[in-house]
Amino acid sequence: MDILIVGSGGREHAIAQSVAKSTRAGKIYCAPGNAGISQVARCVPIGAMEFEKLVSFAEEKKIGLVIVGMDDPLVGGLVDELEAAGIRAFGPRKNAAILEGSKAFSKDLMKKYGIPTAAYETFDDPEKALEYIKTADYPIVLKADGLALGKGVLICNTLKEAQEGVRTIMEDKKFGDAGNRMVIEEFMTGREVSVLAFVDGKDIRIMSSAQDHKRAGDNDTGPNTGGMGTFSPSPFYTEEIDDYCKKYIYQATVDAMAKEGRPFQGVLFFGLMLTEKGPKVLEYNARFGDPEAQVVLPRMKNDIVEVMEACIDGRLHEIKLEFEENAAVCVVLASEGYPLHYEKGLPVTGLERFEKEEGYYCFHAGTKFDESGTLVTNGGRVLGITAKGDDLKTARENAYRATEWVRFDNKYMRRDIGNTIMEL
Ligand code: AMP
Ligand code: GLY
Repeated sequence: MDILIVGSGGREHAIAQSVAKSTRAGKIYCAPGNAGISQVARCVPIGAMEFEKLVSFAEEKKIGLVIVGMDDPLVGGLVDELEAAGIRAFGPRKNAAILEGSKAFSKDLMKKYGIPTAAYETFDDPEKALEYIKTADYPIVLKADGLALGKGVLICNTLKEAQEGVRTIMEDKKFGDAGNRMVIEEFMTGREVSVLAFVDGKDIRIMSSAQDHKRAGDNDTGPNTGGMGTFSPSPFYTEEIDDYCKKYIYQATVDAMAKEGRPFQGVLFFGLMLTEKGPKVLEYNARFGDPEAQVVLPRMKNDIVEVMEACIDGRLHEIKLEFEENAAVCVVLASEGYPLHYEKGLPVTGLERFEKEEGYYCFHAGTKFDESGTLVTNGGRVLGITAKGDDLKTARENAYRATEWVRFDNKYMRRDIGNTIMEL
């Protein structure tokens, strides 16, 4: 069966590598892909939001399965359009992807079904929001309702900051239409864990846990980014926490969506905060995390295409997910200045070594071949350097060693990915 993957980041490269190992996979295409993905898939120059072109391409090539990796096309309804044309697609339909597409929707769902999350209020009117924050406890968290590349969340320590925040989101529309509505929620403290799961509408299968590092600078300083590095599994995600989440969060979310007439099929990502009062949901995403996928997928033993087909066909109960008994760490190599201002088009070298060494991966996020065929940087996050090890400490050492193999002029990375596990 020929397969089309939609997206162009490190996550899609990790998905493409897993798909390439599947016994079910014939030709693999990726739209639009990147330089690294072009080594495992045929990249086609169609953007992830060009729905008509994607549907025509899938029809013309008789694609047996389309895997939608990114949030925007999922929230925009690409899966619905593919299905309407009779094409099998992995990922939630528009009415289920809203779990990521609207924070107000997901908060209301959690409230209605008693799923643990921070207390909140929703506002359509900036005046009402400005009134509300006058009597709130601080710090307080302001969230633009819609998709904002992980950047539409502001943590405000004072009334003045919150007033500016409301204006930025709802009046200046810094995050565009995502800020037409806003959620204001209680500030929580604790460790964050990302848990990804396959869902078939009724059943759910949990993958190995991971932890992201969202801020740009060491020791969690600087602006929020898409993610600067991950490790898996998270040693803070204990069996006790897993039991609690299985009882109160995971299946409860899947059942709630089914009850609302919005069955969720695809990958459901639970962003959890492990608070003193137990785990609470920070956010849902309707897809694999990036760079979470880069540490979780290389450790998964199952044939990814079989699992995805089981999700589409409602047969997930037949699947037992299995992960290697090891660990993986991913360090993102970014362009200096990311996520604000950075230079692109700089030559990248030193990647040959990854082909020779077992257990090392170089996932491409922002790369391309220029007119002369030279590999150059083409984004803020450039590469995800992942390494496995028998345990987290070894995986971490391996990943940092491998970051030294790679050279480009404005290479920047956090030096403290996984430091919290070193303290254990
Ligand atoms: P989100 O996009 O909702 O996951 O928010 C992005 C980041 O903001 C999270 O990963 C947290 O670090 C932080 N955050 C979001 N909501 C809260 C909250 N209620 N309390 C504390 N931190 C939060
Ligand atoms: N790494 C966080 C995300 O993919 O949303």
